[in-house]
Amino acid sequence: MMRKLGIAAFLYVTFLCCVNGASLNDTKTLLRDLLSNYNKNVRPVHNQSEIVNVTVKLYVKSIQEFNQVSDVLSVVAAFSISWKDQSMIWNPANYGGASQMMTSYGDVWVPELILTSPSDDVESLGRHGIA
Ligand SMILES: *[C@@H]1O[C@H](CO)[C@@H](O)[C@H](O)[C@H]1NC(C)=O
Ligand SMILES: *[C@@H]1O[C@H](CO)[C@@H](O)[C@H](O)[C@H]1NC(C)=O
Ligand SMILES: *[C@@H]1O[C@H](CO)[C@@H](O)[C@H](O)[C@H]1NC(C)=O
Repeated sequence: MMRKLGIAAFLYVTFLCCVNGASLNDTKTLLRDLLSNYNKNVRPVHNQSEIVNVTVKLYVKSIQEFNQVSDVLSVVAAFSISWKDQSMIWNPANYGGASQMMTSYGDVWVPELILTSPSDDVESLGRHGIA
């Protein structure tokens, strides 16, 4: 009988991360090449009729409040959101072996996700949700 579900959420994007033998120059060149013709408003699938599969995992860290009288359940949780970006494809051999790369949230397409509950305002977890 939970009428209100409050979620204090920490959002993080599991993005390609950081350990490889490439030099600073290789990494800069790679990032420049990948982003030079990138438009983050375009869904990252070659065939724009296809969907982008987005996997969302919710990790509940703790229950903050459970109030049966007022029907409130509050949890602290983290989201892990992953998808495949078909623009982010390169040959590591051309970039000093760089097989992984990290960039900031604002540089790339991100899925628009909203967090809502029956009684609260709608909160965006997408590109507008994070500075
Ligand atoms: C940086 O990398 C580019 C592309 O791999 C290469 O053409 C250029 O010579 C490199 N510059 C330096 C200073 O290593
Ligand atoms: C794009 O996907 C649609 C739907 O799956 C398909 O009908 C169409 O042939 C595809 N276009 C190309 C160029 O592959
Ligand atoms: C998304 O997932 C569906 C079902 O698994 C699959 O058929 C489709 O090819 C996937 N699309 C992309 C762009 O990966």
